[in-house]
Amino acid sequence: MKLNSYAGSLTRPMRNSDRNYSLDKAKIKFLLLEGLHPKAREMIEGAGYSNIVEKPGALTPAELKQSLKGVHFVGIRSRTQLDAAAIDAADRLTAIGCFCIGTNQVDLQYAELAGIPVFNAPFANTRSVAELALAETIMLMRGIPEKNAAAHRGEWLKSASGSTEIRGKTLGIVGYGHIGSQLGIIAESMGMRVIFQDVENKLPLGNAEARGSIESLLKEADVVSLHVPDTEETRNLMSASLISTMRKGSYLINAARGTVVDIDALSNAIKSGHIAGAAIDVFPKEPKSNNERFESPLVGLDNVLLTPHIGGSTLEAQANIAVEVASKLVRYSDNGTTRSAVNFPQVSLPDHGLTRRIMHIHHNEPGVLKDINQVFFDSEVNIAAQYLQTEGGIGYVVMDVESDDVTSLMKDLAKIPATIRTRILH
Ligand code: NAI
Repeated sequence: MKLNSYAGSLTRPMRNSDRNYSLDKAKIKFLLLEGLHPKAREMIEGAGYSNIVEKPGALTPAELKQSLKGVHFVGIRSRTQLDAAAIDAADRLTAIGCFCIGTNQVDLQYAELAGIPVFNAPFANTRSVAELALAETIMLMRGIPEKNAAAHRGEWLKSASGSTEIRGKTLGIVGYGHIGSQLGIIAESMGMRVIFQDVENKLPLGNAEARGSIESLLKEADVVSLHVPDTEETRNLMSASLISTMRKGSYLINAARGTVVDIDALSNAIKSGHIAGAAIDVFPKEPKSNNERFESPLVGLDNVLLTPHIGGSTLEAQANIAVEVASKLVRYSDNGTTRSAVNFPQVSLPDHGLTRRIMHIHHNEPGVLKDINQVFFDSEVNIAAQYLQTEGGIGYVVMDVESDDVTSLMKDLAKIPATIRTRILH
């Protein structure tokens, strides 16, 4: 597929009628890369699709381009780079499933302009992170990290000094979203008192109480657990100054993003004894692979639990991700629903029963809907239902029609200058 220029500096994939397809399930090809959880295949097969190719690892860029030919749906994890060149090579690509949380590995804007929605599973590992943070709370308050480190060196630190139960202690949660609120519920069920702080007005679950500022939360909490996203506001949020606001002898957990904590300041606060211990899963600088060496100012501090960004890495989370993303791909293929796509207008559609469903993806320009309706008017085809959503550069119109013969109508729709692609479901 060639590129032409669009909206000044932006390049966009040219509209390509080869990409149009009608729903014949046996012909629709799924390529699943990077050893996805078996539930993904199960889900896709269960929906009636049999043309599924699976590969255990990521492919080289050249292999990827070759393998994407004729593929309608591709499932990847974080190691497959779907850049503009790969998307160009994918002559039939209809949707992309990122079987993970992040979508940085895909050129989202290019995919959008090519009319390709991208799906992911942003909250499939919420419970896994919350469980780890609770387990770490218990470990830290019992002084397990240093006792464990000492025992590995042949030392015997048998003492109750400084070891406490979590029952009745105060957990301060910064960022009361999916993970933070889930953590609050399970911590409370173990007898903790939960306070939280969020930039949004959040409904407290259980007996949790909101605090108006992070400072007031830090002054009150025995353990502080961070669950905020990586944004400009959260970068180095836990600065030396805020760390010094934490109670003396309290603990810090970070399973959010490495950028949120000033790691040198934390290291100093632990060495000085102001902070009694920490559990850190994410770092400002993380190794790119398991073969690369991990380095951090926290290495060697016995009272710090260090984990390699595995807060969300459980078999259950993998299975949840597989089911969630595979079902989003199937739903898009079966009926055109794009709900929760990260780069695309969101349309949640009812099943279309006995009618034919026509989908028209176009560049979001004035007058396109008029052109589409004109084609229907000229073809004397009645529209039973019509759904339209636009977002950024893309418009997505779905129409249910009762006519049996729509061959020439589909050709006319494809001729509308702003068209990126059309699809028909019978
Ligand atoms: P979410 O979007 O559901 O919740 C984030 C919450 O933080 C929201 O309620 C938001 O209003 C709040 N927030 C944003 N800026 C804030 C600020 N400056 N101060 C206070 N609150 C603020 O996200 P979710 O799913 O709960 O994830 C939270 C974090 O956990 C994210 O950074 C995510 O990347 C990370 N994560 C880490 C994993 C791991 O393996 N360690 C796995 C999954 C998520």
